[in-house]
Amino acid sequence: MNSQLPASAAIYNKALLAIYDAYVLGFSNSWVWRCPSRRILALYDRQVSGRHLEVGVGTGYFPDHCRFPVASPRIDLLDIHPATLETAARRLRRYQPRCFRGNVLESIALPEAGYGSIAVNYLLHCLPGPIRDKGRVVFEHLTPWLDPREGRLFGATILGQGVRHNALGRRLMAFYNGKGIFGNLEDNEDDLRRLLSEHFPAHELEIQCCVALFVGYRGQAAS
Ligand SMILES: C[S@@+](CC[C@H](N)C(=O)[O-])C[C@H]1O[C@@H](n2cnc3c(N)ncnc32)[C@H](O)[C@@H]1O
Repeated sequence: MNSQLPASAAIYNKALLAIYDAYVLGFSNSWVWRCPSRRILALYDRQVSGRHLEVGVGTGYFPDHCRFPVASPRIDLLDIHPATLETAARRLRRYQPRCFRGNVLESIALPEAGYGSIAVNYLLHCLPGPIRDKGRVVFEHLTPWLDPREGRLFGATILGQGVRHNALGRRLMAFYNGKGIFGNLEDNEDDLRRLLSEHFPAHELEIQCCVALFVGYRGQAAS
C-alpha cells in the first residue's frame, strides 16, 4: 500500500484493480450488497451528460459501459490514487479523458467549471465519518463545478444503518470498516436525504437493499 494515500484509497493498487470488476461490481454488488451493477449502470445512463466529471474512478467501468447522450462526450477523471486514474484513463482512451489528481476532502482545482454531470459512485462509503459530515465536505467541494442550470451530481453508496446486511455483508462491513477501507457504519438514508436537500433544490433517492442511489439537481430536476 502507498502510505501517502488515505486508507479509503490506498487499497486500489494495480493488483486490486485487476479483480475489482469481478469481485466488487460482479460478486459483491449482486450477492453481498444486493444492488446489481446494472441498477447503477441504469442510473448512469439516465444522468450522464456530454460534459462529465467522474470522481473516485476505480477501473472506469461505469463511464466505459454507460450511454452518453452525445457521441463524443468530454470526460474528466478525478481521483487521489494515480493507479486508478491510469487504469480508468486507459480504458476510456477513446474519449481522451483528462486526469486530475485530488482529494475530495480538500478543495479541488480544475481548469474550468460547468459540468453537466458529476458522478461520485461508491465513493462516499469509502470516506471516514458520518455521511452528514463527509457528504457535506464532498458536496461543498464538488457542487461549484456543476453547471448552475443543468448540472447534477449522482452516484450510489453502501449504507451502514437502517438496511439489512446479510451474514457475509455484516462480516465484510466489520472488516472493511476496521481497516478504513469503508467508513460507513453510521451512514443512513435519513442523513443522506437531509444532506441532499441541504445542497440541492431537487433530488432523488432510492434504496436498493444495502445501497442508496441518489441524484442532486443543481437547477431543476429533469422531467
Ligand atoms: C470503491 S472505488 C469506486 C470506483 C468506481 N467509482 C466504481 O463505482 O466502481 C473508490 C474510489 O475512490 C477513490 N478515493 C478514495 N478516497 C478518495 C479521496 N479522498 N479523494 C479522491 N478519491 C478517493 C479511490 O482511489 C477509488 O478509485
